[in-house]
Amino acid sequence: MVVRLALAGAGLFGQEHLGVIDRIPDVEVVAIADRNEVAAKTAADRHGVLHRGADILPLLEKHRPDGVIIASPGQTHVPLALGALALGIPALVEKPMAMTAAEAQMLVEADAKGPGFVLPGHVLRFSSPHRRIADIIKSGEIGRVLSLYARRHRDDSHAVRYPDIDPIMMTMIHDIDLAVWMTGGSASEVRAWRSPEGAQRSQTLVTARGDHGAVWQLATSWTYPGEAAPDRIEIVGERGGIDFETGAHIRQYGDTPRHIDLAEFGPDDSLFNEDSYFVSCLRTGTRPSIVTAQDALAGLKVAAAALASLGKGTQ
Ligand SMILES: NC(=O)c1ccc[n+]([C@@H]2O[C@H](COP(=O)([O-])OP(=O)(O)OC[C@H]3O[C@@H](n4cnc5c(N)ncnc54)[C@H](O)[C@@H]3O)[C@@H](O)[C@H]2O)c1
Repeated sequence: MVVRLALAGAGLFGQEHLGVIDRIPDVEVVAIADRNEVAAKTAADRHGVLHRGADILPLLEKHRPDGVIIASPGQTHVPLALGALALGIPALVEKPMAMTAAEAQMLVEADAKGPGFVLPGHVLRFSSPHRRIADIIKSGEIGRVLSLYARRHRDDSHAVRYPDIDPIMMTMIHDIDLAVWMTGGSASEVRAWRSPEGAQRSQTLVTARGDHGAVWQLATSWTYPGEAAPDRIEIVGERGGIDFETGAHIRQYGDTPRHIDLAEFGPDDSLFNEDSYFVSCLRTGTRPSIVTAQDALAGLKVAAAALASLGKGTQ
């Protein structure tokens, strides 16, 4: 069966999705929408897509694809996803799934009603090295997780490219989701610090206590003038720990020490894995379990509390 997809948002990341979809067998993109008509036309021409427009909802109504990928700016995610679900069309919704926890709750409710579903685009859940870390935790080899530190620094062009979205919602949301995934549940006692205060080009630090007692320490900086320092995760368990560095290794400490060279996993194809998973859910009529709208809501509650701690309120 050929799976028919639509795409909302043909910007940088929408084009990334189109590139990987081209590599998935038996998938056809039937419609592309972008507020910027030139962007919609350019992407449609490049990928041989027949239908395009400024608004995805009439295209969904007319062409009834099996699923839609929503890769437009965060502020548009919920209205577009609710529109798709109202037509019974499942949506892969890029992160952040919503801009507020209240909006995310609406999507969780619409997802629960079915028949459509939401697959939040938390791409690290589809990254082989990150899945290996989650498996080590699940195996019990390092015991109960006591703390998770994650940092994700990006070059300072982010402050210019994304003036309308907080670094917590754009970049740290990945680490918030990692913490939700690896320590379970949401978190409370959330505190955030930003230096310089009020600036997009800044460093943000967040601490929180996960629902199962693990302390989260998350750091994101949009201050690097050039290449940023690699992403890093450090997990301390009751009987060991795990260190991870992008492009380098996973090191496991404790009763079962391991050094895992990331070369073992080959090139990171997490977006391909994510889109392939969406397609396989559509093809088999299965709801997603790797990451759910409920997981994204758990993370967005922490993001909202972090923004409140910065005195920003929700965006
Ligand atoms: N998972 C990841 O690692 C990752 C990485 C980058 C971006 N993203 C997410 O992807 C989304 C897009 O980011 P980007 O970097 O491509 O931004 P972008 O600004 O390059 O592209 C966004 C596109 O959406 C279009 N658009 C705006 N409103 C629209 C609407 N109502 N309907 C259809 N199109 C609309 C814009 O014209 C633009 O072409 C964001 O939600 C972002 O958070 C995810």
